[in-house]
Amino acid sequence: MKKCLILVLPLLVALVMVQAVSGQDDFASKFWAYISETNPYSGWGYWPGTYGMYPGKSPHGAYLKFYANGIALKAAREGKPMPEGAILVKENYGNDQKTLMAITPMYKVKGYNPSGGDWYWAKYGPNGEVMASGAVKGCINCHRARQANDWIFTEAKID
Ligand code: HEC
Repeated sequence: MKKCLILVLPLLVALVMVQAVSGQDDFASKFWAYISETNPYSGWGYWPGTYGMYPGKSPHGAYLKFYANGIALKAAREGKPMPEGAILVKENYGNDQKTLMAITPMYKVKGYNPSGGDWYWAKYGPNGEVMASGAVKGCINCHRARQANDWIFTEAKID
């Protein structure tokens, strides 16, 4: 698994950089394939201090699940900023706690967009339909309030 990650992540970084420059956006579907099939986020850990489903705030779902890949979890546990290759994935559920409404990931790519925390943002429908991706203004403008915390709202709680 580690070897696979080491190979795949630089490839993703290269892709996102090329497409940021060319303005194309099919990276969003490649990224979805990566987080849903190649290295499914459902097998990652939960963000430290969260476990399973918990109530969220507007504009995200009424209920959430917050997953992070190994790179992100290691940094969060050490209290460090998110390094290159960190991926945070939030599942957003409706009031019934069952209906998956959207998946909203953030992916750290050094140099991608310094004025947006070098995060690549995306929003997918429950079956991976791309609803927004890239340097998404809506995401950036709201998460900017947490710029001093690497644009992340949820504090990592370490026991
Ligand atoms: C109007 C404010 C707002 C907007 C717009 C917004 N978010 Fe968030 N986001 C939040 C808040 C508040 C949280 C904290 C957890 C919660 O209640 O959802 C959060 C949490 C997250 C998290 C978990 C990490 C963290 O910061 O706690 C991810 C990942 C995320 N948002 C991605 C996105 C993406 C991708 C978009 C755009 C498609 C987006 N957000 C748009 C307010 C916003």
